[in-house]
Amino acid sequence: MADHRDEPLVLGIETSCDETGVGIVHGTTLLADAVASSVDEHARFGGVVPEVASRAHLEAMVATIERALTDAGVKARDLDGIAVTAGPGLAGALLVGVTAAKAYAYALGKPLYGVNHLASHICVDQLEHGRLPEPTMALLVSGGHSSLLLSSDITSDVRPLGATIDDAAGEAFDKIARVLQLGFPGGPVIDRLAREGDPEAIAFPRGLTGPRDAAYDFSFSGLKTAVARWIEAKRAAGEEIPVRDVAASFQEAVVDVLTRKAVRACKDEGVDHLMIGGGVAANSRLRALAEERCERAGIRLRVPRPGLCTDNGAMVAALGAEMVARNRAASDWQLSADSSLPVTETHVPGDAHLHPHPHSHAHSHDHVHETAKDNLYS
Ligand code: KG4
Ligand code: ZN
Repeated sequence: MADHRDEPLVLGIETSCDETGVGIVHGTTLLADAVASSVDEHARFGGVVPEVASRAHLEAMVATIERALTDAGVKARDLDGIAVTAGPGLAGALLVGVTAAKAYAYALGKPLYGVNHLASHICVDQLEHGRLPEPTMALLVSGGHSSLLLSSDITSDVRPLGATIDDAAGEAFDKIARVLQLGFPGGPVIDRLAREGDPEAIAFPRGLTGPRDAAYDFSFSGLKTAVARWIEAKRAAGEEIPVRDVAASFQEAVVDVLTRKAVRACKDEGVDHLMIGGGVAANSRLRALAEERCERAGIRLRVPRPGLCTDNGAMVAALGAEMVARNRAASDWQLSADSSLPVTETHVPGDAHLHPHPHSHAHSHDHVHETAKDNLYS
């Protein structure tokens, strides 16, 4: 059999929120990225409804896997591994992906890799810009997370430097969009309206930017309240709401803080690469301001294209392929969905890696396959 170690062919499944994503990669090359979203089903609730998301994943799963295989022109039996988001995310939604991944891995006799959703958001950039420099600073901004992470090896070492102490950046976009009655999700529509507004029209607060505040933590709930109050006051006075200016000024307050702290973290840690990932990285103003500030600070910026920033299966496949390439231990059949999987746990190795087979190398590629096979027949 050919040695696939450098360019493993891996299928990745992502179901942590409302996107059923199935991606296939060959090393750092993207072959397929099939996504079925249930976002429209949640729109009338103004947020993702976990039960609705879980059911939608169940209904979309097999068709999305088949579409990815067809798009990639790949036979399932040729895969070197199956990766799946083990967490963090919505428990019921994650469970659908983990169960599907186990079923396919078991039936095909392939190693299974339960991986971390946040590390996947970082690793996806390899599909666009090649291998991640080590170390890489990552600003992860999505509907569920806002974190500054420092990684020296995306398969094993992700160190959190700071995170939001209340709302996530994307959550703030979604909440402000709700106040402005712009629908859900809020990020894309605010991004679009803000282009026609004045970012300096209203001076909204920049959370946690005082000299005594935690340098790398974020807070968006004060901003959210300030924007809501400002709108309420206008409404109470019977004045029209300048929606575009509010959108632009709110967005500016968010991206100003995000980019300022990310650049500062790079400087403090002596890291000259910044990657930005997660759904909010699709924001056009965040991308532009980050570009400007990174250039001024001599930092190289890497941001995947918007389609790879929002949740997708390719990012899971990308991290799975890296796990195979670096001989990380596969997961075992006890793998379960962990809604609060810590960011430091880049993947969920099976127990077997603690008790390596006496005749195999603990971290050899063969062992990875053996682990899955042992489990398959045990
Ligand atoms: O990464 P993602 O798809 O799912 C999570 O893991 O949360 O991120 C979704 C979030 C939503 O809050 C959405 O409003 C936000 O990303 N988002 C944006 C943009 N596109 C999506 N926020 C700001 N500007 C955008 N263009
Ligand atoms: Zn995400």
